[in-house]
Amino acid sequence: MTPADVTYLPEAPAHDAEIEDINAEAFGPGRFVRAAYRIREGGPHERDLSFVALNGGVVIASVRLTRIAAGAGRALLLGPLAVRPAFKNVGIGRKLVRIALESAEKAKAPAVLLVGDEPYYGPLGFSRIPRGQIVMPRPVDPNRLLAVEFVPGAVARLAGEVCHADLARVAEDEPLAETAAMQSKAMA
Ligand SMILES: CC(C)(COP(=O)(O)OP(=O)(O)OC[C@H]1O[C@@H](n2cnc3c(N)ncnc32)[C@H](O)[C@@H]1OP(=O)(O)O)[C@@H](O)C(=O)NCCC(=O)NCCS
Repeated sequence: MTPADVTYLPEAPAHDAEIEDINAEAFGPGRFVRAAYRIREGGPHERDLSFVALNGGVVIASVRLTRIAAGAGRALLLGPLAVRPAFKNVGIGRKLVRIALESAEKAKAPAVLLVGDEPYYGPLGFSRIPRGQIVMPRPVDPNRLLAVEFVPGAVARLAGEVCHADLARVAEDEPLAETAAMQSKAMA
């Protein structure tokens, strides 16, 4: 296999079953209790910003991006990233990360965050988020909380509990909803 035998495409619904299979193989049942998985349960991932690698029409690797919020900060969470064992160590993982980062920047995402190994992601532009700045829904090694920012100050704006951005929007809307309910009560 040469790099020319691998095609990179935006993810489509038709890839879902193969992606699930790749993630099951890479992370096993333990994936369901990971902090990042817990966040991703809060809402959908961004299909347009998620990518697959194909070889002979078969999905051999995948990366996904999901919108997240932490305090006033907004970012994309990268992951899961997984490559079929037979295709590891030929640059597919790094290429998928680069494609995902390019698409995130084009989409004007302020930053991309992940839980991962610094020796792998550091050369791709990621660095550690200051210890204690953000809190994941399940314990993670703080040395593995990494981010890259496209807008200066975007990582500093991430603060406190990290959740899916859709849940943050609900929380932000709540005071408005309450106000509307109070107004309609007052008018009744
Ligand atoms: C991690 C993973 C995505 C890497 O994909 P890949 O296509 O094999 O990676 P690449 O070919 O782009 O890079 C390979 C290089 O990264 C190194 N590498 C792989 N995993 C690494 C890790 N966790 N930490 C540091 N270096 C790592 C390899 O040793 C290799 O080094 P070399 O270039 O000096 O030989 C793949 O091994 C995988 O699917 N692992 C299981 C799932 C997983 O752990 N995903 C990441 C979650 S954060």
